[in-house]
Amino acid sequence: MEKAKILVVDDEKLLRWSLQQNLSKEGFTVITAEKGMQGLELFSEEQPDITLLDVHLPDISGINVLENIKKENRDAIIIMVTAFGDIQTAVKTIKIGAYDFVEKPFNMDKLKILIGKALETVSLRKEVSQFRSQLSKKYGFTNIIGKSDEMLKIGELVRKVARSDAATILLQGESGTGKDLVAKVIHYESGRADRPFMDINCTALPETLIESELFGFEKGAFTDAKNMKKGLFELADGGTVFLDEIADMKLSTQAKLLKIIENKTFKRIGGVKDISVDLRIVAATNKNLVEEVRNDNFREDLYYRLKVIPIMLPALRERRDDIFLLAKYFVEEFNREFKKTVKGISKETAKAFLNYHWPGNIRELRNVIERAMILENEDYILPEHLPVEILSFDAKHLGAEAAPVSIPPGGLDIEEVERELIKQALDIAKWNQTRAARLLNLTRDALRYRMQKFGFLPAKT
Ligand SMILES: Nc1ncnc2c1ncn2[C@@H]1O[C@H](COP(=O)(O)OP(=O)(O)O)[C@@H](O)[C@H]1O
Ligand SMILES: [Mg+2]
Repeated sequence: MEKAKILVVDDEKLLRWSLQQNLSKEGFTVITAEKGMQGLELFSEEQPDITLLDVHLPDISGINVLENIKKENRDAIIIMVTAFGDIQTAVKTIKIGAYDFVEKPFNMDKLKILIGKALETVSLRKEVSQFRSQLSKKYGFTNIIGKSDEMLKIGELVRKVARSDAATILLQGESGTGKDLVAKVIHYESGRADRPFMDINCTALPETLIESELFGFEKGAFTDAKNMKKGLFELADGGTVFLDEIADMKLSTQAKLLKIIENKTFKRIGGVKDISVDLRIVAATNKNLVEEVRNDNFREDLYYRLKVIPIMLPALRERRDDIFLLAKYFVEEFNREFKKTVKGISKETAKAFLNYHWPGNIRELRNVIERAMILENEDYILPEHLPVEILSFDAKHLGAEAAPVSIPPGGLDIEEVERELIKQALDIAKWNQTRAARLLNLTRDALRYRMQKFGFLPAKT
């Protein structure tokens, strides 16, 4: 770390002088102010790493200066200088956000140790913020690949939402469609980017653990609670909480979540104090929440809260235009990672990709390319390095994959449905009766009988 900068705000000339001498000797850059207003100005101009701030100043109080500095930079590290024995004031300043306090007259060695500790915090924070800025390069708008109409619309929406004040966002889509990615981009492209992004998967943990992860707990809240622990909601203050697989959250936890969203405060488990937080909640699910609400698995009021801004990520099979672009993107990614120079995918591979239905969506495509790249020594990814399910895939599987027919509220005409299915099977099989029959698990005769019934074949005379 380069020379740390320390701002001293104190009206006692002798004390300023002595700090300047002592701390400069330690290799710090020391700047001093005599009054509160001047201290504030210097803080803004110089952005010191640490501020030593006297509580008693001739113009405005040190507490006032502390509050203003914290408003400007909530991470500012401020060590208060208080009168001997004035514990009440000291505690008050800690509550406002002072890092620590020293009592006058203070011991210079102790102060140096305290400064050393504070500087460790500063350098840790710098590391964290460097790490975050690396992440923000990885999770920028440009990392969402796709030129299909659907993806262009989503890109535009993500841009608007990230920079907005929206407090809740709901991401829906099958597994592997990019919900995680979009959640991170929304965070790292927002004004919250230098605050934490915290995520939790609601499926992975049992209910009691989820609650203690989210809300934290007070010491003694339950048998194992030996120390106070902050939860995600508290740690993510100013940032984003990503609740993955929200549909799996238990109803009682859902109720608590709704309260946080509405009141912007919560209590730690076993706690009485309300803690206020400024959060953005991004929730994701691959389930149909409307159905979950209908089945009483999901609170309707929470659903309406979350879906104020819904983002629906399309399945890859619904935007086949993007398959090449994504494939190219992943080939480049793994070229870098494996130090290879694969140019792209072969024509045959492209054909197989386009024909396949990608149940695992983009994640599956990425995995397929990663595997092929490990094996490939040619310029282009050849079909021989693709998994059999992609090579041997034919539309027959589509029938098995498609959602079972559900009956609309007004009922339906089963003959109509049958006619439609026969027609679809014939279309897919290009009017090859044997193949069409296979798609419907019928014998060829049974198919022909139905084709006649629905007028696809001249009736027997
Ligand atoms: N539009 C996209 N452009 C580039 N990569 C994507 C895109 N969508 C998803 N991915 C990548 O696909 C993989 C799966 O995405 P993920 O966000 O984890 O999906 P989900 O959370 O919906 O299951 C990740 O490696 C992700 O980076
Ligand atoms: Mg995910």
